[in-house]
Amino acid sequence: MDITLSYNQGQAILTMAGRLDTNTIQQVTETCERLLAKNEPISSLTCQIAELSYISSSGLRLLLQLAKKYEDFRILEAQPEVYQVLELTGFTQVMKVERALRTVSVAGCDIIGRGGVGVVYRLDDDTIIKVFREGSTIQEVQNEISMSKEAFVLGMPTAISFDVVRVGNRYGLVYELLKADTLSDCIKREPERLDEFARQYATLFRQIHSIHVPQGGRIPNAMEREERAIRYINRYFDTSSIDLLLQIVHAIPSGDRLLHCDLQTKNVLMQNGELMLIDMGEVGYGHPLQDLGHAYSSLVTLLGDYDAIIGMPREYGKQLWQKFMHYYFEGESEEMIAHREEQISVVACIRNFSWLSLSDSFPESVIWECQQAFAERVTKRKDYLLRVCSSFGDWKI
Ligand SMILES: Nc1ncnc2c1ncn2[C@@H]1O[C@H](COP(=O)(O)OP(=O)(O)O)[C@@H](O)[C@H]1O
Ligand SMILES: [Mg+2]
Repeated sequence: MDITLSYNQGQAILTMAGRLDTNTIQQVTETCERLLAKNEPISSLTCQIAELSYISSSGLRLLLQLAKKYEDFRILEAQPEVYQVLELTGFTQVMKVERALRTVSVAGCDIIGRGGVGVVYRLDDDTIIKVFREGSTIQEVQNEISMSKEAFVLGMPTAISFDVVRVGNRYGLVYELLKADTLSDCIKREPERLDEFARQYATLFRQIHSIHVPQGGRIPNAMEREERAIRYINRYFDTSSIDLLLQIVHAIPSGDRLLHCDLQTKNVLMQNGELMLIDMGEVGYGHPLQDLGHAYSSLVTLLGDYDAIIGMPREYGKQLWQKFMHYYFEGESEEMIAHREEQISVVACIRNFSWLSLSDSFPESVIWECQQAFAERVTKRKDYLLRVCSSFGDWKI
């Protein structure tokens, strides 16, 4: 038996491969206990059993113990034989069990896009598959698809989403193929239309930010997620600077509006003159200031390879942003727009660093670049940042 555990921000995934029977149960139980004890605190436990070919009653007992110990517990990717046992014994009625995923091959498919987490292939005339990078967890993948569906239901213009699939040892998501270009490509091709694009982009933001997210649903509180991300990157920065980022987050007024939280121009597609959104993994609810801060952090102050990540030169991103602000805040005075921009730029400081929480395997050079920028943008500007965030309360929605 092969047992591994991956852990990120309270979510633990135990992967079990092989045969779980009387010969292996002792070793498996000990390994599980050791791995779980090493990673605390655990808020949810997932058993990923795609490669578990057999389970005996002692194996079932182990699952039962885990389900009792961890309230948020589920079993994913049970193969037909194992699923049958779990069903026959009533396990599927007392715990969450999902069947093995459909397998899809991308051999011979054209690549139509790349992003931070995946490569996108054209599957056929109507659908695409976004294959997540190796190491992405099933939770990350399922979260994206469930947020896509929730956002779609609430009226966000987006690609229709289908199912989670297996692509070799990776996960994939199947979506409707949008016959469209990214907004970055449109701007690069026709920079003279930048003003028109900025107006459409701002209208889209305003449309999303006018949607109220009903309480009690699956869309998470974006501020709480940001807070968790900041706590997660404390290993790269000193405690007092992390506290400063937390103070900025806490100063953002609460809100119930729909937020995309990664609305950069490669996540906006132009289809028949209309803008559509993709990449919903970070959708949440809250105050628009947070969403605008994220957009500013990508379009204006992004760290790293701008052209590759945003898909156009930074100069275009900055120009788009300037025009965007005037459309988003249409009717407001120049002075007020400048004030809002200052508030947004302070919130952007969080996102410029909090994205480091998305992976545990960034190269040293990326972390080093962030640490240098952090000293300049955060540590040295403490008084200024605190002064600006004390004004956030004046932004009523
Ligand atoms: N439904 C779709 N239809 C057409 N192109 C898409 C679709 N989804 C993604 N793409 C293309 O793939 C790129 C990366 O997809 P995205 O979901 O943003 O991945 P990531 O999360 O890695 O950023 C997009 O910028 C776009 O060019
Ligand atoms: Mg993207």
